[in-house]
Amino acid sequence: MWGNPASRSPKTIMLLGSGELGKEVVIEAQRLGVRTIAVDRYEHAPAMGVAHEAHVIDMLDPEALRSLILQVKPDLIIPEVEAIATQVLVELESEGFTVIPTATAARLTMDREGIRRLAAEKLGLPTADYRFADSLEELETAVAELGLPCVVKPLMSSSGKGQSVCRSREDVQACWRMAMEGGRAQNTRVIVESFVPFTSEITMLTVRSVSGTEFCPPVGHIQRDGDYVESWQPHFMSEEELREAQDIARKITDALGGYGLFGVELFITPDGVVFSEVSPRPHDTGMVTMVTQDLSEFALHVRAILGFPVPSVELLTPGASATLKGGEGREGEDFRIAGIGEALSLPRTQVRIFGKPLCKPGRRMAVALSAAEDVETARSRAKEAANLLKVVWSN
Ligand SMILES: Nc1ncnc2c1ncn2[C@@H]1O[C@H](COP(=O)(O)OP(=O)(O)OP(=O)(O)O)[C@@H](O)[C@H]1O
Ligand SMILES: [Mg+2]
Repeated sequence: MWGNPASRSPKTIMLLGSGELGKEVVIEAQRLGVRTIAVDRYEHAPAMGVAHEAHVIDMLDPEALRSLILQVKPDLIIPEVEAIATQVLVELESEGFTVIPTATAARLTMDREGIRRLAAEKLGLPTADYRFADSLEELETAVAELGLPCVVKPLMSSSGKGQSVCRSREDVQACWRMAMEGGRAQNTRVIVESFVPFTSEITMLTVRSVSGTEFCPPVGHIQRDGDYVESWQPHFMSEEELREAQDIARKITDALGGYGLFGVELFITPDGVVFSEVSPRPHDTGMVTMVTQDLSEFALHVRAILGFPVPSVELLTPGASATLKGGEGREGEDFRIAGIGEALSLPRTQVRIFGKPLCKPGRRMAVALSAAEDVETARSRAKEAANLLKVVWSN
């Protein structure tokens, strides 16, 4: 029970990070009469346009973050991105605030070392072989030990930033440099992983709520340069693969704890299912659920974090998503997105225009979502729709 959003005792949620995924979380929370506060490091972030209140702060600045949270006193703090001073969340949780799903989960998953050590060393889940390296020399040693090819990633980054595949000993230096330039923190540590020869990769969307743990049907996806370009649901898997995938997803989400929806990223290989990483929040590849499920991943997340039951998840139709990204060579605010009408003329197709104020090369600006009688048709429809969308510069 809570008051109306303008009353003195509304239920208030604060999103730390206000991108396209946060925007959908805000919309779902609004539908349940919740007061919503959107926070990000830049103005006019997507979720700010639909929230009751917006704040622009440097979320990596512990003082700024702490003072804003103490001023707003939200019932729930929802980290929506990984670039946050998570130590502050750990402190505030011990002072009585609620962090979604938990402050420790937010801290562990923002850092590839935290989550990898939990998954591989504590829980014994299958992962790629890995090493950590603090210098170019250590990276050379790690690559020699793991063998080629391998993947080098900064400890803190997302959407494939700073990540590269090392195919020969000559690549090591370039990989090191890319990781140093693409990483988010002052940290110079990298993780090196053996390249997993997967036949497909999936996201196991997993909801933890008062009702227990529920799994969505697997979402298959394709990544380019470490960032997702296409996803579909359901992804076909054998019963054994599905069991393994759900087993891994249950173990990692139980270990992280709390309520909410998690995106468990898994590789499917001929030798079994391999854990990659997990987002303790809705996943970009899961945007497809906005056209496939009775409750989207965002609706599920909001229900779970508010303490409401999630008795079941229903897949209503096969579907797919495809992204529109900013093209190479130009950055700015002076753009429009064209082709929306053409894309919407395709059957059972929707688009989400995120409303980002700035278009940059590779930045995700919109997504096309299509349903169809089978996954293949949905995929080709969503790709066709996304291809009709264009970023057009005004001059
Ligand atoms: N060890 C690996 N072997 C093979 N492919 C890999 C490996 N690690 C990463 N990849 C590929 O790169 C993609 C991005 O990697 P990862 O999820 O670790 O990075 P990320 O920056 O966290 O991406 P995002 O934030 O978009 O999830 C994976 O989805 C996969 O396609
Ligand atoms: Mg990933």
